[in-house]
Amino acid sequence: MSLIVRPGILDIAAYVPGDHSLPGSGPVHRMASNESALGASPRAIDAYRETAAELHRYPDGTSKDVRVALGKEYGIAPDQIVCGAGSDEILQLLVRAYAGPGDEVLYSQHGFLVYPIAAQACGATPVKAPERDLRTDVDALLKAVTPKTRICFVANPNNPTGSYISGAELERLRAGLPSNVLLVVDAAYAEYVDADDYASGLEMVKRHDNVVMARTFSKIFGLAALRLGWAYCPPAVADVLNRIRGPFNVPAPAQAAGAAAIADKAHTARAKAHNDYWLPWFSQRMKELGLHPYPSAANFVLVKFPSDPKLSAEAALKFLNDRRILPRRVAAYGLPDCLRITIAEESAVKACAAALEEFVKGAATQ
Ligand SMILES: Cc1ncc(COP(=O)(O)O)c(C=O)c1O
Repeated sequence: MSLIVRPGILDIAAYVPGDHSLPGSGPVHRMASNESALGASPRAIDAYRETAAELHRYPDGTSKDVRVALGKEYGIAPDQIVCGAGSDEILQLLVRAYAGPGDEVLYSQHGFLVYPIAAQACGATPVKAPERDLRTDVDALLKAVTPKTRICFVANPNNPTGSYISGAELERLRAGLPSNVLLVVDAAYAEYVDADDYASGLEMVKRHDNVVMARTFSKIFGLAALRLGWAYCPPAVADVLNRIRGPFNVPAPAQAAGAAAIADKAHTARAKAHNDYWLPWFSQRMKELGLHPYPSAANFVLVKFPSDPKLSAEAALKFLNDRRILPRRVAAYGLPDCLRITIAEESAVKACAAALEEFVKGAATQ
């Protein structure tokens, strides 16, 4: 007799993270995972180190220090915050709580791939709504709603496209959803956005009982290795998540570093300023090379390459990899002619721009 895997699990195409390394020796410019260009706050690193003496202790199962720090920072009730091992865990817990076999989980065509994976893992059916110009299309999402829809995920800004929709559009989406559908606004890149019409979903959670906002410490706070994410939820949703999450789901070093990272506003401001300068700089360079960078509100740029095989995304990827530069291929997102490039450290951004210039000029002379 062999083991019986639950139906649908073997249909899942496992999430393939961005590459970390390349064959051969020497440093690599890592631009594949939208990590912070400036690393973690020195205060967060100190707080992390201080937990070393207590590694034999279980962590606080309620992640109270982080929730209190977040509550203070955003003016929200700590009781309505649930922390997870990365926002990935939060997204998965939400699906596990609200969708199962026979239910549908709605998301946008080029939306974050964890959404369909989380849906399939629970036996629910992921349903993709088309986008317009690589932007979340509220009308298309609403059109795709059926009586089986239980959750609608919107990444705002979205990964890998970098596009966002306005707060008014998010409100219009919520207003059009049946009240038994949970709208999850995944605001992993919210701290990078300047646009006046942007909304992370935070104010919507205050007003509605079917909206959750998910956030992460992996991006601007530079703590991806520690796995710390959180959700701001209506009280009933927070109660549900607290019932099903692991009792000690967030390690103590992650909690300590997270609380310290929130307090180090100067470091966060430096990371934001770095992105504010290098994101437009890099996008402009791509335009000058005749490539197509999509407008981005986050810390990465999606660049479209021509179909000419000499100039294709596949050829560019190889060219960059040969120069020890690691962007992210996004064919799994239905974008085979694009690469997603993180606005990493200055040296990486400059090296990547220079290498792509060499690539484009070299192709012209072939
Ligand atoms: C849109 C989006 N949501 C969630 C995540 C997951 O982040 P975490 O590291 O907190 O699990 C990512 C990570 O790339 C992301 O791009």
